[in-house]
Amino acid sequence: MKELITVVKAEKLTKVYSMPAEEIRAVDGIDLEIRKGDFVSLMGPSGSGKTTLLDLIGCLDSISSGSLTVLGHDVSKAKESQLVKTRRGSIGFVFQEFLLLQELTALENVELPLVFARREIDRDYCVKLLEKVGLGHRINHFPRELSGGERQRVAVARSLAVKPALLLADEPTGNLDTRNSDEIFALFKKLNAEDGITILVTTHNEKLGNLASRKFHLKDGRVTDVFGAPC
Ligand SMILES: Nc1ncnc2c1ncn2[C@@H]1O[C@H](COP(=O)(O)OP(=O)(O)OP(=O)(O)O)[C@@H](O)[C@H]1O
Ligand SMILES: [Mg+2]
Repeated sequence: MKELITVVKAEKLTKVYSMPAEEIRAVDGIDLEIRKGDFVSLMGPSGSGKTTLLDLIGCLDSISSGSLTVLGHDVSKAKESQLVKTRRGSIGFVFQEFLLLQELTALENVELPLVFARREIDRDYCVKLLEKVGLGHRINHFPRELSGGERQRVAVARSLAVKPALLLADEPTGNLDTRNSDEIFALFKKLNAEDGITILVTTHNEKLGNLASRKFHLKDGRVTDVFGAPC
């Protein structure tokens, strides 16, 4: 039988932003579990809390209440140094804006997370990652010398450099046309199916969101619908 490993577990997870005029419950009592090998999409209208939830799971922001365990660490109790270590060493991030460093080549961008994680740079492995995303012929190109779809594929390769236990992608196709969006999701599907990478992705695109094996719908910081069972 396949080993079941909980990668993320949230119980009554809540994030409140206290503003001068109001309290915004961006994430409002969410229960969710993600297991190793899951491919999960988070959908919902603008402002429903998708990015906030992803940032909490990515240990990029502190939780207000409830509990959140990420890769075995209780996020509310773990030391900041442990969270930084988990974030840099075990979680891959892909963002809508690609966020590549303009003065570095595609290959150097892919290698960068290894520098931050204080790991030895395995250049051959990073080249292999670029080959995996179909960019073996573009490794020495600078971001300005790549198309939008290619830039995002570099960002996906970069997210994999640390061999993450969890890949988080926030609206990764928001700046891409239909063809490139389809390619990025096909790539996620492949990484999940062939390499067993656990993926959590937010998207406004219903068709792409349906490619995930599980789907959560959010509204006003709450989960309104769940499709599919954990891995
Ligand atoms: N740093 C912040 N300070 C205060 N309020 C915030 C902050 N970040 C987000 N919010 C508010 O929290 C709510 C959820 O925002 P969030 O960015 O998570 O939504 P989203 O579902 O990702 O939306 P979109 O689809 O537009 O990206 C919104 O009402 C937003 O205005
Ligand atoms: Mg968002």
